[in-house]
Formats: sequence, C-alpha cells, structure tokens
Amino acid sequence: MSDVLTAEQKLEQLLAMKAAAALGGGQKRIDAQHSRGKLTARERIELLLDPGSFEEIDMLVRPRGHAGAESPTEAVVTGWGKVEGRPIYLYSFDFTLLGGSLSEAVGEKILKVMDLAMMTGAPIVGIQDSGGARIQDGSESLRGFGEIFTMNVLASGVVPQITVTMGPSAGGGAYSPALTDFIFATEGSGQMYITGPDVIRAVTGEEVTHEDLGGAHSLASRSGVAHFAIAGEEETLAEVRRLLSFLPSNNAEDPPVVYRGDDPERQEEDLLTIVPPEGNRPYDVREIIFRIVDDGDFMEVHELFAPNMVVGFARMAGRTVGFVANQPMVLAGAIDINGARKAARFVRFCDCFNIPVITLVDTSGYLPGTSQEYGGIITHGAKLLYAYAEATVPKITIIVRKSVGGAYIAMGSKHLRGDANFAWPMGEVAVMGADGAVNVVYREELASAADAAGRRKDLIDEYVAKFANPYIPAGRGFLDDVIDPRMTRRKVVRALEMLQNKADRNPPKKHGNIPL
Ligand code: HXC
Repeated sequence: MSDVLTAEQKLEQLLAMKAAAALGGGQKRIDAQHSRGKLTARERIELLLDPGSFEEIDMLVRPRGHAGAESPTEAVVTGWGKVEGRPIYLYSFDFTLLGGSLSEAVGEKILKVMDLAMMTGAPIVGIQDSGGARIQDGSESLRGFGEIFTMNVLASGVVPQITVTMGPSAGGGAYSPALTDFIFATEGSGQMYITGPDVIRAVTGEEVTHEDLGGAHSLASRSGVAHFAIAGEEETLAEVRRLLSFLPSNNAEDPPVVYRGDDPERQEEDLLTIVPPEGNRPYDVREIIFRIVDDGDFMEVHELFAPNMVVGFARMAGRTVGFVANQPMVLAGAIDINGARKAARFVRFCDCFNIPVITLVDTSGYLPGTSQEYGGIITHGAKLLYAYAEATVPKITIIVRKSVGGAYIAMGSKHLRGDANFAWPMGEVAVMGADGAVNVVYREELASAADAAGRRKDLIDEYVAKFANPYIPAGRGFLDDVIDPRMTRRKVVRALEMLQNKADRNPPKKHGNIPL
C-alpha cells in the first residue's frame, strides 16, 4: 500500500484540522462559556454578519509561544463578511482558548485584517472577550498590543472602527477599544478596566466588584468609555448592525442613502407648542428630533453619559445626519465638561466620515461652578469650539429657545463656519441671562436706587424685551432665517440638499492641536 494520501484523504485531514480549530479551546470550555450566558467567538460572528457571508482568515495559525503548544488554532477568530450587503472586517476573541489572551500570533492575525480593512476601505469590528496580554509570552504579546494601537491610530478617520465588549477586556484589551470610534458593552458580561479589583485593593485599599468597576453600566454612565450598554449579546450585535447602516464604509465615501418614503416636506403641528414659553421649563429635546427625522428613527449615542447633551444618528430624506442637541431636561441644557467632550468627539466623528451635523440649541450656557473650573472646563469646553470650527461637513443649526454666551458661539454658530443657521421665533440670543446681565451693567445704579427691587425688575424686563427674540442676530445675518417650527423638517432637508456638494478645506497642516 502506498503512503501517499489520496485527494479525499487530504481533504478529510484538512476538514479534521478545521473542525478541531472551530472548537477553539474544546467542547468543555465552550459549554462553560455558554453556562455563563455568553456566546462563543464564532456564534457572535454569525449573529453580526449577513447569514452565510463569513470568510475566515488564518484559522490554521497556531500558538508559537510558551502556552497552548498543542492547540489547533489561536485565541482569536478573524476574517471578513457582509452587513446589509457591505463588507466589513472583524476579529472576535475566543475566551475558550487561553482566556482569549493576546499572543504575538493573535496580534498578527488582528493586524492582518486591520490592514485589509484600511486598504479596501471597509469598517473593522472587534469583539472583545480577553484576559489581555498573554502572560506566558511576555514582550511578544506586548508588541502585539503596541502594533494594534498604532494601527488603530492610523485607521482612525479612514475607516469606522467599532468595539464590542462581551467579556473581560483588561489592560491592553481596554486601550485598543479606547482608540476606536464606538464601544458597545453587553450588560452583565462586558467589562473593561486597566487594572482589576484585586490590584486596586492591593494598591489603594478600595473594595469594588468587577461589574461596578468596569461593567457595561459603569462604562456607559460614569466614565463614558462605552457609548452603548445593551442587555443581551444578540441585541448588542443587532445594534452594531444598526449603527453600521448609518455609516459610510470609509472616509472617501458618503453614507448610504436609505430612503423609506417619509415625506421630506412633512409638517409637524406639535413643534409649535413643544417648547414651553417659560425659559426655565424643561422638555425633552429628543421629542423635537423624533418629529423631524425620517420615520422617527434616532439612534442615540452615549445616552447614559452627560445626558445634558444629546447626540446620535438619524436620516433626513434618506441621508445620514448627526444630531447634537442641548437637553433642557438635565442641568437646563447647560454645557459641562462631559457634555462638551461628548459633543466634540461626536462632531469630529461626523466630520471624519462625511456626515452633516444638525445642531439644536437650547442652553443657558457653559455650566458655572468651582468643580467645573477646577476640572478644566476651559480646556474641555474649548474642544467643542475646536470641533465645530474645524468641521468641514455641512453644518445646520437651529436655535429653538435659549442660546446664551459662549454656548451660542459653540453650538454650531455662523461664527464657527455654520452653513445654515435658523431660529424658531422663540429663540433668544444673549451674552448672559437677564439677572446676571442687569447685575453687571447696572451695579452702581442699583446700589444707590431708592427702590432697587422695582428698578431691577424694570431693567430685567427691558433686557428681556430687547434680547428675548432672535431678531438682533437675524438682522445681522448671523441667522439665515427665523422659521416656522412646524416647517423645520422641510427647512433642514432643503438645506442639506443645498449643501450636498459643499467643498470646504482647512489650511494645509500636519494636524491641528485640539485642546486635549
Ligand atoms: C494567559 C490567561 C490570561 C492571560 C486568562 N488566562 N488571562 N492566560 N494570559 N492574560 C487563562 C487563565 O489562566 C485560564 O486558563 C483561562 O484563561 C480562563 O481564565 P480564568 O481566570 O479561569 O477566567 P475568569 O475567572 O473568568 O477570569 C477572567 C479574567 C482573569 C478576569 C480575564 O483570567 C484575569 O484576571 N486574567 C488576567 C488579566 C490581566 O491582568 N491581563 C494582563 C493585562 S496587562 P486555565 O487553563 O487555567 O483555564 C496587559 C498588558 C498590555 O494587557 C498593556 C498595554 C497598555
């Protein structure tokens, strides 16, 4: 009998190798993964991609270091597939194999798909479930992380980068996600931190659980590290698909147009009364957004972090837009450090990927207070100015009620290169609130007035009569028009149409120096 294998036998050998590789760390560990309510790396990929579209790359790459010598495959599944017919690249850590730890080979697999994503102009999605750098591999795994960080930075602004955290993401496993555009965390399993509870106890004496320290809710609400905290892995991956549907594949493309028939000229009667006439009465600014966007479909980003500022994606006549809006329900819509950081990063993302920015303004200004000043609101607030002034995508702004002081300038004003600036008739543009303004301007007069309280009230009324309307800025051309609120959708859709071929450039430079 010949030792030479037939083609069928060779094929069987290949299939056996692939079957073993597909089991990652083996059935026992897959069962353990399931018993924790977690899916495997491959099951997650199947849910993320269009059915049957996954093409795996490097399945037969094996550990070459000091751990996992017998393993048929490495601790990450990589490849490409399609989401709603468009290609994406992805990597999904396999926790069943050496805790999804990152070795040199794992790093190389990830770098290969990142490189392909950049060369071909397609988004990259990373699914995290990893114990971080493979301890046994020492500096080889550190090299892997370092090179991934570099590639994250090079890919930033070229292709959308999305991270999905569905397990531990410790150490280096946390920094790569931080360099990507959006982070989804699954509640109950997604956890990110630089050092875990044990190290924290040893160093600072603090007691904290894994979940409190870096669980999805903490990441999305306290630190804002995660943009989305979602219950259930399947639901999380469905939201990743939804986010991708709004985005272009790369920075040279426009976002896909998805028009489902909502009338671009639709008028909304409610918009006339949605904003309470009393300047300090709250309402939910999202109710305005729902009424003007296509089909009421608004994907809010960072919903749990800095809720005084609302940001997210929607479509207008089928075209993707990014919304930035003050939220009068929280802090009277004042802009604080976190709100400024949140909005600035969002505006910059939109600018990277050719997504017009629509701004709704109703704010009492930047938030006063020692905690804000000591926390550096000057630097962080300036990020918002920087992001708007730098952005060259179409910028459409609507002042729906108050627009005060620096916040008037920051929130997409004409002076930061706003393209279409409107106000509702209830709009007010002033340097500061009436109380504060009267105190400053008439301090001496009020100090010596016989009836100081009466005089003060008159002066406040005078100030309100002069500034509680949009006609001074409209008279200067700082606003292009004062519009009927019910026509807002039509006005915005037409402005987007007018600006569709906008071509604006910043002066040539290596890069600017945003106040980080
Ligand atoms: C090698 C690892 C590993 C790692 C986990 N495993 N992390 N192997 N290198 N980094 C292995 C475990 O030994 C175990 O193998 C299996 O994976 C499952 O891990 P468990 O500990 O049993 O699981 P669990 O109890 O769920 O805990 C998961 C965990 C914990 C929280 C991730 O394993 C952990 O704390 N790991 C270390 C995390 C860490 O500190 N990583 C280094 C970060 S520093 P067996 O065979 O026993 O089942 C870093 C440097 C880069 O990343 C920094 C750049 C800035």
